[in-house]
Amino acid sequence: MSEKLSFQDRVAIVTGAGGGLGRSHALLLAQRGAKVVVNDLGGDRAGRSGGSASMADAVVEEIRNLGGTAVADHHSVDTVEGAEGIVATAIDTFGRVDVLVNNAGILRDASFAKMAPEDFRSVLRVHLEGTVNVSRAVWPHMRAAGYGRIINTTSGAGLYGNFGQTNYSAAKAGIVGFSRTLAVEGAPKNILVNVIAPLAASRLTEDVMSEELFKKFEPEYVSALVAFLANEVCTLHGQIFELGGGYYARVALIESEGIVVDSIPSPEELADRIDEISDISTFLEPARADVLLAKVNQKLGL
Ligand SMILES: NC(=O)c1ccc[n+]([C@@H]2O[C@H](COP(=O)([O-])OP(=O)(O)OC[C@H]3O[C@@H](n4cnc5c(N)ncnc54)[C@H](O)[C@@H]3O)[C@@H](O)[C@H]2O)c1
Repeated sequence: MSEKLSFQDRVAIVTGAGGGLGRSHALLLAQRGAKVVVNDLGGDRAGRSGGSASMADAVVEEIRNLGGTAVADHHSVDTVEGAEGIVATAIDTFGRVDVLVNNAGILRDASFAKMAPEDFRSVLRVHLEGTVNVSRAVWPHMRAAGYGRIINTTSGAGLYGNFGQTNYSAAKAGIVGFSRTLAVEGAPKNILVNVIAPLAASRLTEDVMSEELFKKFEPEYVSALVAFLANEVCTLHGQIFELGGGYYARVALIESEGIVVDSIPSPEELADRIDEISDISTFLEPARADVLLAKVNQKLGL
């Protein structure tokens, strides 16, 4: 593609854009002409202390110094009112909203044996409910405009699992399910929803990445794909991409071709055929649950 992707006359909201990946997304979108709402409530990485406006303000200043247009927003994504406040900032300041990047997040890692219920709930609230809240708040505006691009942020932990992150994995997997259905509902209105599972140097990863990895995994690698997914040239929806440090891949949800039996089998019969059931040398990749159901019916001869 030779044409430079532009966000002229487009308005983008990036949540949690006071640092890390969100800051990088906001800077790139602004550099390409978007008017950007830089949302961040401030606070530490566990979301325990908060309320410092300076993080979002500093990114807005950076964007303005580079000749871009941005406004800071300090609401929390984790309440319906906060999310409505974020979208009101976009509408009141710039009159519209075209792009939403749901990126805000916190970490409260502990093995499941030691996970306090409040630490489970807080992580679900910020990641999953935060994504739902801000999506809900932009939805009527995007539907009315017949245009929208939403990029939600999951994680390898949500897709594949990771020790010490049951709360985070549950929230991030929830974001995948939410996004897949939102993509189905949004596509007819030209509101395209996709998901990224990034890997990047940030305060969330400074204690798990070596110094060498930390240098390599610049957030800008991730933002480049976010900008494509956020642009009007992108026609993809319901897709999941894993990316970081120069690696870009599509994540697929697949099912093996499976087996079909004519009558209720015994557990022993299934145990005998478990390798056949599990074999993914050929597979289905259903775009939606109803497509899967149609395939299953076909296999069953119904
Ligand atoms: N860095 C990685 O390798 C990695 C990997 C997988 C997923 N992610 C996801 O990417 C996103 C960005 O993470 P990051 O690594 O840049 O971390 P980060 O801590 O630098 O960024 C998260 C930002 O969200 C803000 N935030 C937290 N709670 C908020 C709330 N309630 N309302 C508004 N803002 C809030 C924080 O202040 C922070 O600036 C997160 O969703 C994270 O889970 C990151």
